[in-house]
Formats: sequence, structure tokens, C-alpha cells
Amino acid sequence: MAKLIINEKKELGVIQKEIYGHFAEHLGRCIYEGIYVGEDSDIPNTNGMRNDVVTALKEMEIPVLRWPGGCFADEYHWKDGIGPKENRKKMINTHWGGVVEDNSFGTHEFMELCEQLGCKTYINGNLGSGTVSEMSEWIEYLTFEGVSPMADLRKKNGHEKAWKVDFFGVGNENWGCGGNMTPEHYANEYRRYQTYVRNYDAENPIYKICGGPNVDDYSWTKAVLETTHRNSLPAFHGMMDGLSVHYYVHPEGWELKGSATEFDDAVWYKTLKKAIYIETLIQRHGAIMDQYDPDKKIGMIMDEWGCWFNVEPGTNPGFLYQQNTMRDALVAGISLNIFNKHCDRVKMANIAQMINVLQAVILTEGEKMVLTPTYYIFQMYKNHQNAILLESHVNTDEVGVEEEYMVPKLHESVSKDKDGWITVTLSNLSTEDAEEMDMIFSDLLVKEVKGEILSAKMQSYNSFDAPETVKKENFDQFTVKDNRVLFTIPAHSVMQIRVK
Ligand code: AHR
Repeated sequence: MAKLIINEKKELGVIQKEIYGHFAEHLGRCIYEGIYVGEDSDIPNTNGMRNDVVTALKEMEIPVLRWPGGCFADEYHWKDGIGPKENRKKMINTHWGGVVEDNSFGTHEFMELCEQLGCKTYINGNLGSGTVSEMSEWIEYLTFEGVSPMADLRKKNGHEKAWKVDFFGVGNENWGCGGNMTPEHYANEYRRYQTYVRNYDAENPIYKICGGPNVDDYSWTKAVLETTHRNSLPAFHGMMDGLSVHYYVHPEGWELKGSATEFDDAVWYKTLKKAIYIETLIQRHGAIMDQYDPDKKIGMIMDEWGCWFNVEPGTNPGFLYQQNTMRDALVAGISLNIFNKHCDRVKMANIAQMINVLQAVILTEGEKMVLTPTYYIFQMYKNHQNAILLESHVNTDEVGVEEEYMVPKLHESVSKDKDGWITVTLSNLSTEDAEEMDMIFSDLLVKEVKGEILSAKMQSYNSFDAPETVKKENFDQFTVKDNRVLFTIPAHSVMQIRVK
């Protein structure tokens, strides 16, 4: 029996709801087909956005959406995506399959989508191939309420009122697809570009995000912070609100990646071990950030994370379309637990990507839509959004088949919401063994318990022919004794337990 000890008296900080954020790039069938089908489509839509997809995302309580990239962001010229659709420029999407981008989904459509979803907006600007004035004019177009060339253009294009931009990324992966820059060069460019990301609405300042490292490139983090700090105090905190970090799980490494659906126990554990590694990245990049920002005012923004496998056989390699199994559910469950536990530094995370690309929560085919196992994890974890992280500890053995890839059998995080409900999210990483749990609170006399579970064969996934193979279910097999809750968590499954 494993003990899960919860000290509900020790509150460790607020889990920003943006940790449950998403990312949608002009890549493959993410935007086009996945979200935007156009007003004339036979697929039921509202102003071009698929109704089925919007409803599912709202039920999952999506808090924020990042757009338009990714690598696409540093090749995107926003003026190509405004005005009458028939006049919009067509371009080649050089990064992703060389297909024609007709720009029919642009600024107005993105803001409309976020309005329909009721979520915050995170726009990523073009530093790699765009100009300072282009970026500055985009902000003016989006957020300036008065009389100005860009505000007038927005009004001419049918949107009288200024929008609210919550988050703005100044470039993406500028160490690679965003311009192959050195950290010092990027950081100097960042200083310049961000100067012109003006706050026209003083009440709602834009949260500015600086391009951070890839995986374990600690020298990037150090050099960017060093350069952005140089001679910049005391205005530094106005210059940067967040620093992004990107990390993808590839079980067989970047070149080989591995299949999304065919794997054995050894690859299962290897994948989960690589998912857990994100905690090391948070700690090590966080330690560097602490040197420059000891009060943790700058958020770590994990704005690309998730599993990156081989594409589904027979699909366009540039579209990054992959299936999603219980293994993805475990990766999501573990990663989100880790973000929760580091909510003192991690202020936003955006899984890559929302629909039909990489570790998607939704897959579509024509008018059909399926919810993936990862979708159910986001649904089961939504009670953590804006809740208070509580101190918790689980006594657990290690499991695995290769010494290098041993993982803890159990993985948890715990929070308390404004109504006093305690939410526990718990994963069993074992391929074989269930675990009997003894959940103990420091003081709480347990009155009510309810739960949900996601449990299926490790390789199970939802297809268009069998869309409900993996689905969350209610769970009520609890025994309650004073301040303890006893239950069994099956092998390779994820649970949400709510206690009051
Ligand atoms: O999410 C796919 C790509 O991965 C993004 O465009 C890029 O930022 C990252 O390398």
C-alpha cells in the first residue's frame, strides 16, 4: 500500500490557469480543417469556426491560445492576413509541407476564435524576418482605441473596438528556425523590438515573452538574461515578463522519434522518463533565472511541450499528424503535475498543438471529430486552474525494465480551489501493477469524495471508427475513514480525486 500524504495547511502558491494553455500554428491541419473551415463549409460553424471543436474546447476550459507559430510566426506578415479575403496574399508555408497558405485565417479570425472560446490571447510576433515597425504596427492595429493609421485600418476592416492582447511573444526559437541567432544577438534584438510593443491600454498591459532556450541549452538562458539585464535596470521588469522554454518528448531521440501507437514496455518507460525530465529543465533554467530575478517576477513559459512521434503512416511528413494513446495521457498527466508543483516559476504552458498536430487534444477528419486521451487529462485537471497548490508527497517504488529508464510508480499533485475542494491528480506509471492507496490529510475530516479515472490498454487510442475506446469515467470505489481515503489505482491510468 502506498501513502499519499497531503498537508492541506501548507499552501504553496497559485497555479495560474494559463498552465493549461494550448498552441495552434499554421501547420498541417491544425488551423485549416481543424478549427477554421470557412463560413460556406457544410461542417456546422460560426463565422467559419467549427462548432464541434469550439464546444469541446470550451468544455475543457481552455484558458489561453498561442498563435500563429512556432516557426511559422517568424515568417508571418500580419498585413497579409487582414482585409477582404479575396485580396489576401497567398504564400508558401515553407516550414510545413510547402503548401499554399491563403491567409484566410488572420488577425480578425484569431481574435474571433478566442472570443468564441472565452480564452486569453497569446500572439507570437515575427522577429526573425519581420521589422520593428511591422511588429509595432501589429500592436497598434490590435490594441489602440484612438485615431491612428493602424486603428483606422482595423476599423475599415470591420472591427471598431480595440482588442485585448494578453501575451505577446517577441520571436520564436530564434536560436533555430527564427533566424539562427546567437543568444547575445537575439537578446539585443529582443531589447529593441520589445521597446515598440507599446501598452496603449495602461489598465491591461501586454505580458511580453522573450524567446528562451531549446531543451537544456543553459548557455542560451544565461546569455539572454545577461544581455537583457545589461545597463537596463531599473526598467528591466518592464522589458520582460516571461521567458519561454521548449521541450518535446521523443522516445527514440530527435532523428528516429518512434511510433505513436506501437511500443513495448521498455519504450513506454523511456517515454515517461523523458517526460519527467522536464522537471530537471525547470529546476536548472529556473536556477539561472533566480540569479537575475530572485523574486521570481519573470515567468517561465513552457509554450511548446508534448510528445513528438513519427507521423501517421501515409500522411504528409510536413503536417506532423500523429495518434494519441494512453501513453500520451500519462505524459500529459505527469507534465501538468510538474508544472503545478513549480507554479512559483512556471506561469504558462502551451501543449503542442491543439488539433491534428503532435500531441493534440482533438483530431478531425472531414466532419468527424474525436477527443484524444490527452483531451480527457485536460478535462480531469481543469479544477487545478487558479487553485492553490498544496504540499503533498507520495511514497512510491521505482518501476521500469532498463536501469537507465526507471520511473516512480506514482506521480501526483494536489490543489485546493476557492470552494474548498481539494483536487488530487494521480498517475500510476506501471505497465503491470495496480497500487492500493492510503490518502492521508493532516487535519481534514473527509466528508465527501468523488473521482474520475482514465484507464485503458497502454496502446489504446480513439480512432474515427472507434472514437470512445479511451474515455474518462466516474470513479467511486473509495473507503473513507476519518481523515483517510482508501482506493486502488489500476496500472497505467490517471485519476482525479476530489475531497472536501
Ligand atoms: O510545434 C512544431 C514546431 O516545433 C514549432 O513550429 C517550433 O517552434 C518547434 O520547433
